[in-house]
Amino acid sequence: MNERIHDLQTPVADAGTGFVRVGMPVSRVDGRAKVTGEARYAAEHPAHDLAYGVVVGSTIARGRIAGFRLREALAVPGVVEIITHENRPRMRSFDLFYKDMTAPAGAPFRPLYDGEIHFSGQPVALVVAETFEAARYAASLVAVDYLPQQHETNLMSQLARSHKPKPLKAGFSPPPDERGDAEAALLAAAVRIEAEYYSGVEHHNPLELFASTVIRGEDGHLTIYDKTQSSQNSRWYVSRVFGLGKDKVTVRNPYVGGAFGSGLRPQYQLPLAVMAALQLRRSVRVVLTRQQMFSLGHRPETLQRIRLGADRDGRLRAIVHEAVAETSCYEDYVEVVVNWSGQLYACDNVKLIYRLVALDQSSPMDMRAPGAAHGVHALEVAMDELAWALRLDPLELRLRNYAEQDQMKGLPFSSKALRDCYERGARRFGWARRPLAPRSMREGSELVGWGMATGTWDAMQMFARAGAVLHADGRLVVSSAATDIGTGTYTAMCTLAADALGLRLEQVMFQLGDSNLPVAPIEGGSSHVATVGSAVAGVCAKLQKRLFRMARRLHNSPFAKARFDEVEFAGGGLRLRRQPSVAMSVEEVMAAAGEAAIEEKYLMLPKVLKQKKYLRATHSAVFCEVKVDEAFGTVRVTRVVSAVAAGRIISAKTARSQVSGAVVWGISQALHEETHADHRLGRFMNHNLAEYHVTVNADVRDIDVIFVDEDDRVVSAIGAKGVGEIGIVGVAAAVCNAIFHATGRRVRSTPMTPEKVMAPGGDVSVSAAL
Ligand code: MOS
Repeated sequence: MNERIHDLQTPVADAGTGFVRVGMPVSRVDGRAKVTGEARYAAEHPAHDLAYGVVVGSTIARGRIAGFRLREALAVPGVVEIITHENRPRMRSFDLFYKDMTAPAGAPFRPLYDGEIHFSGQPVALVVAETFEAARYAASLVAVDYLPQQHETNLMSQLARSHKPKPLKAGFSPPPDERGDAEAALLAAAVRIEAEYYSGVEHHNPLELFASTVIRGEDGHLTIYDKTQSSQNSRWYVSRVFGLGKDKVTVRNPYVGGAFGSGLRPQYQLPLAVMAALQLRRSVRVVLTRQQMFSLGHRPETLQRIRLGADRDGRLRAIVHEAVAETSCYEDYVEVVVNWSGQLYACDNVKLIYRLVALDQSSPMDMRAPGAAHGVHALEVAMDELAWALRLDPLELRLRNYAEQDQMKGLPFSSKALRDCYERGARRFGWARRPLAPRSMREGSELVGWGMATGTWDAMQMFARAGAVLHADGRLVVSSAATDIGTGTYTAMCTLAADALGLRLEQVMFQLGDSNLPVAPIEGGSSHVATVGSAVAGVCAKLQKRLFRMARRLHNSPFAKARFDEVEFAGGGLRLRRQPSVAMSVEEVMAAAGEAAIEEKYLMLPKVLKQKKYLRATHSAVFCEVKVDEAFGTVRVTRVVSAVAAGRIISAKTARSQVSGAVVWGISQALHEETHADHRLGRFMNHNLAEYHVTVNADVRDIDVIFVDEDDRVVSAIGAKGVGEIGIVGVAAAVCNAIFHATGRRVRSTPMTPEKVMAPGGDVSVSAAL
């Protein structure tokens, strides 16, 4: 609660002057547009003569479509067309054309391509009508005859047929080879722990439903408002699937109401809406229902086994981390689950195994900190189990095994202020007062427990372009085909640009969310600020130099004898560092030089050769207090302190929101979220927000976010590493460890629901199946 009050009192900019500097707590620049409804989302863009498409999903999980009975549906007044694989427009046939920029290995799902059913809920028809209501009603009347085949959706019954994944996916590294001899070291270790950890399926539930509005111009050009984490990825996909030239399609996503990874790949409403627009030669909108969003993909169900061996003084001698996760039958969706266990702690003997089981499900998808959210969870719960076996303080165990360098590749960290995270987080939380033994603290009917965990995530950088135009009136317009999924991209980029040229925030406009803008990567992996931000800083640096040269060339210029490094950009223009009264505003320079506008472009390429010499990662230390009702097994997370090392913080307020929001989700992962399948039907059952539980306001109490000092010029020219996903990693483990400290019960599967917390001896739902 303190955080929120603090945020409300934060000034918008520098003491009312409007000038901003990197690192200041600026309120989001798109906030007004969002709260007034001026910001339009994918389903809200108007179009002349718009038709509405509603998707019909498969009721079987595997098999073939035998035929359709459409007469009743076609008879509904207002129905224009029902598109199925039998009457769809031409689509490309090769898998290659369906591979979007972040597709894993395999043959991507091709909506309405043929009569094969690969998962329950797969789109089998699109009903298009003059109104949404007519389309929706008619969709309910579509009858489909299936030739069902035996399906298999149960990971736990199929572990024996796991396979080694094909590692072809951007950003994915397969587990490294074993270092040392982990099994032998384990046998020789004085203290050993071994446990299995289970995490169920979780679904993305961004507030905004997946939607595409395809607006067909008179010349046939398609302007598509799509819910996506990359307008350029969607544009590329549509062009390739339908064989449309790049100039025939524009994709826009100026506002995205959350995505968390669900928008990394184009979702099926996009090709369906385009199909209808091509077939009917008119504008079409397709919006999915909340239920249908449970058929897009999910965080994969995963079973892990961890074995740790240590000396009596707590030094790790062996780590063995194995994971089996589900994927679809058509793609090898992969994520980094176990590799973190080879880099987070110093240990000479490490064995890491990651395998997949193909099920009749849609391909899983990246979900906030994919792989780490549950992979690091298992490691950090295992570390807590080891700490208790050693009767050692859990934080002390981490400090004794602190990794000074990465042992996987023998590389130094580009920066690693994790020790500061531990120290400052522990101090803020009051960790020193923690009694070692479980069940030591009580308040009335509640047991109180304190737990902690470490978090880590990648610090990545892609390549990006940015453009910038500085106008004579002092307005600066910077652009890149970036995305803001609610994370604060607009605000961070405006802050960087305003800082670079010494302008007021209101003078700067950042354009994103249009496939025609300069190339930017998909907004993913928490790499957007390090990537696009560096491109913005780069283009602004070019403008600085240009403006300086213009100013110096002026008749009687006060900068005639100055060098570039002797001026600074502040107060609305440039001035001498040593004599700030010698100054010219941007408007004065532009007017004197007779320029209406100056424009620059910049291509930011990561310094790959330098980056390869370092392990680049963000870190966090999460401390958590829970109160557990002994009679009911209900858990309240009453206090969380998250101390984060994520490089230089560009936009303090939106960065803080990213971490506190991620902590909320971590609580949700710990206590609430799981999608249950009825394996007889091969179908997710609680596919709605009434039965898919998420943490709500009443579940969230005190969240305290600390950013420790880091400035990493290896990861990015602006010193930033990225702050989205690191916020969730370790949170659920800290909750689990706090529950153990409160109750003495170890819950080894998420979510940690009351019946697991109440189970005598702890959670019993984990099999001995690995
Ligand atoms: Mo993130 S799961 O890369 O949107």
